[in-house]
Amino acid sequence: MNDNKDSSAKTTDSQSFLAKSPAGLEEVLAGELSKLGAENIEILKRAVSFEGNQRLLYKANYHCRTALRILKPINQITFRDEREFYNRIHDIPWEDYMEPDHTLSIDSTIGNSIFTHSHFVSQRAKDAIVDRFRERTGIRPSVDLENPVLRINLHIYKDTVNVSLDSSGASLHKRGYHTVNAEAPLNEVLAAGMIMLTGWHGESNFIDWMCGSGTLLIEAAMIAMNLPAGQFREEYGFMKWKDFSPQLWNKVKDEALTDQRDLDIEIRGSDISARNLKAAEANIRNASLHKDIKLQVADFKDIKPPEGAGILVSNPPYGERIEVDDLQELYRDMGSALKRNFEGYKAWLISSDLQAIKLVGLRPMAKKILWNGQLECRFVGFDLYHGSKKDKYK
Ligand SMILES: C[S@@+](CC[C@H](N)C(=O)[O-])C[C@H]1O[C@@H](n2cnc3c(N)ncnc32)[C@H](O)[C@@H]1O
Repeated sequence: MNDNKDSSAKTTDSQSFLAKSPAGLEEVLAGELSKLGAENIEILKRAVSFEGNQRLLYKANYHCRTALRILKPINQITFRDEREFYNRIHDIPWEDYMEPDHTLSIDSTIGNSIFTHSHFVSQRAKDAIVDRFRERTGIRPSVDLENPVLRINLHIYKDTVNVSLDSSGASLHKRGYHTVNAEAPLNEVLAAGMIMLTGWHGESNFIDWMCGSGTLLIEAAMIAMNLPAGQFREEYGFMKWKDFSPQLWNKVKDEALTDQRDLDIEIRGSDISARNLKAAEANIRNASLHKDIKLQVADFKDIKPPEGAGILVSNPPYGERIEVDDLQELYRDMGSALKRNFEGYKAWLISSDLQAIKLVGLRPMAKKILWNGQLECRFVGFDLYHGSKKDKYK
């Protein structure tokens, strides 16, 4: 992605889209979409709406690091009861979007509605679509929850249904490089969003001293080298759409090649578990970044970063999914190691244990609320500027 705003997304065939993001990353996502040339961007709760053309839709799927999926709204209907819901869904010209022998899946979310079960809503909508095809062609599309041709998204609030097509297919956090997991891996979208929230763009060294399966390291390298988020991903939902343009898609990918740059900083990861580090090694190799990221089995207390400016971003155990003998001691030790070894660096830690984070014993320069799955977390930044030891920590 270029730092300059792309204005070629503004053409007459402009449409509305909705990009979903994890809570706390909406503004970062809006910034990404703006750089790609999206128009009329609006920040919503765990989503960003925007306008653009088909090219922008492909680019948003390929480049956005903090989008989970991108929906294309196709219809809005209102209903009074279940029968009317079925009829309105049945009325939509589904043959514009899929063939009778295609497969489909339907995701529904409901709020404050006569419907109380999303599964039931999806089932009724599926009946309506399948009946329409059967009545017209004698052929019934079938359901494929794993890998359907058309993923349909229904968002119901009170008596209104927003009907959208999911242009991403599988969630965009599935970047394609993560084949081996260690304990409690971070979602790739969250990892990228954490790094982007710090404001780091690859201008200084990057360290994760508890790197597990290497997610933060890989996302950092991709940011620093300007590799698109989808560089290693082969499939997107829009590729199966009737209006898919392979030429346009290839153009979007080719354009991204010209923006890539070499690394001129160090990216280093370490972990006390040799097993977890093996997972990181495999994932980093999948992303062909094994020459760019240095790995080491080590206790974080022994890590000395490269000279110069840099940033540490890490996801230590919280005691929720990974058991630790003494969580309090671990957080105290992190504080001591930062003070001792990381002068001149900035350090960012994410944790759901708010009490433990205080034991780091440094005054935070920034605090953000993020969610790691169901766990509400704080993402806390510390500035270990030169001379800070003397001024602040004594
Ligand atoms: C929550 S996991 C990190 C997951 C990682 N962000 C990922 O996406 O896979 C925490 C990691 O801290 C490591 N760890 C725990 N104690 C450590 C220590 N004293 N020194 C270094 N690493 C440690 C664990 O082995 C584990 O891999």
